[in-house]
Amino acid sequence: MVLAIDVRQITKIYDGKIRALDGVDLEVNAADVFALLGPNGSGKTTLMRILTTQFRPTSGEAYSFGIDIIRNDAWVRKMIGYVPQETSVWTDISGFENLLIYSKIYGVPSSRRKKSISDALQIMGLEEMADGLVKKYSGGMVRRLEIACALLVKPKILFLDEPTIGLDPSARKAVWENLIFFKNEYGTTIFFNTHYMDEADLYSDHIAIIKRGKIVKSGTVNDLKHSLHSEVLLLDLKSHALDETALTDIRALDCVRDVVVSDSELRVFIDDADTALPKIMETLWRKGISIKKITTTRPTLDDVFLNYAGSITAVRKHSPQNAKGAPAWD
Ligand SMILES: Nc1ncnc2c1ncn2[C@@H]1O[C@H](COP(=O)(O)OP(=O)(O)O)[C@@H](O)[C@H]1O
Ligand SMILES: [Mg+2]
Repeated sequence: MVLAIDVRQITKIYDGKIRALDGVDLEVNAADVFALLGPNGSGKTTLMRILTTQFRPTSGEAYSFGIDIIRNDAWVRKMIGYVPQETSVWTDISGFENLLIYSKIYGVPSSRRKKSISDALQIMGLEEMADGLVKKYSGGMVRRLEIACALLVKPKILFLDEPTIGLDPSARKAVWENLIFFKNEYGTTIFFNTHYMDEADLYSDHIAIIKRGKIVKSGTVNDLKHSLHSEVLLLDLKSHALDETALTDIRALDCVRDVVVSDSELRVFIDDADTALPKIMETLWRKGISIKKITTTRPTLDDVFLNYAGSITAVRKHSPQNAKGAPAWD
């Protein structure tokens, strides 16, 4: 099967010293929705810029549908659409006028422009607003217009860098409903960067987690959740200030894999609740810490992310150095 994206040992070093990508290997199947997850500064945008031919890597190889992205960049540009994180439409003209300008930039023949524009407007649900000034659009409508511009040429792969950042939940949902409609209609591969776990969970077929320029884990959402082999105990504590020694004691228990603290909530990764819960409760009780509520859940994608990419609040049992200096979400 030809892969939509095949990345082999890509490295990118900026200014001779900043190692943004450090030997990335990645495969994306054709017609998949693929999410690249990672904290700020982990290399997501750099990788996307290389795959969309804007940057050359320092070393390594990358192919799109078998075509060498680095050597045949002009060819690759013809089959991809790209929506950067930053605003990429003009706000002092209408949505239609933006699409007209982009159709000229992309070289859509004049005889096909009208149809391409009306298709793109329809796919992204913007027909009624097409003649309005973009500065009057909501954030979600601007994003849908930017995506519509990238769809004018019906790309084989659509790259989206943080497509819904800053949008409210209903605007995010509208963006994704239109995107999925487009993907189902045209079989386009979608490659997106995000730090919204729920979005990756809901819409992607495959996920890769990138940390400090390296892919630390990849697979389907279910593969990743199952890879933790654990249950998660959510302990809602009465006291907001959790004593460090209590944390150390819980971490030291044999039945505990990991502990993550956020505010007054303790997320404890365990293999088996029946064995672990009494021991954890006893440890907290000895420290005089009362529990308001206990819930057991399966790992969420947030848990998967915390486990593989780390976080400033994560306390890793076997590698305590991960708890320090890890990049935080914004
Ligand atoms: N043009 C650039 N010049 C120098 N350093 C850069 C440039 N772009 C990104 N970086 C650095 O490369 C690393 C990865 O950045 P980036 O790819 O933007 O990460 P992300 O998109 O995951 O936030 C960061 O340390 C960032 O500061
Ligand atoms: Mg980025």
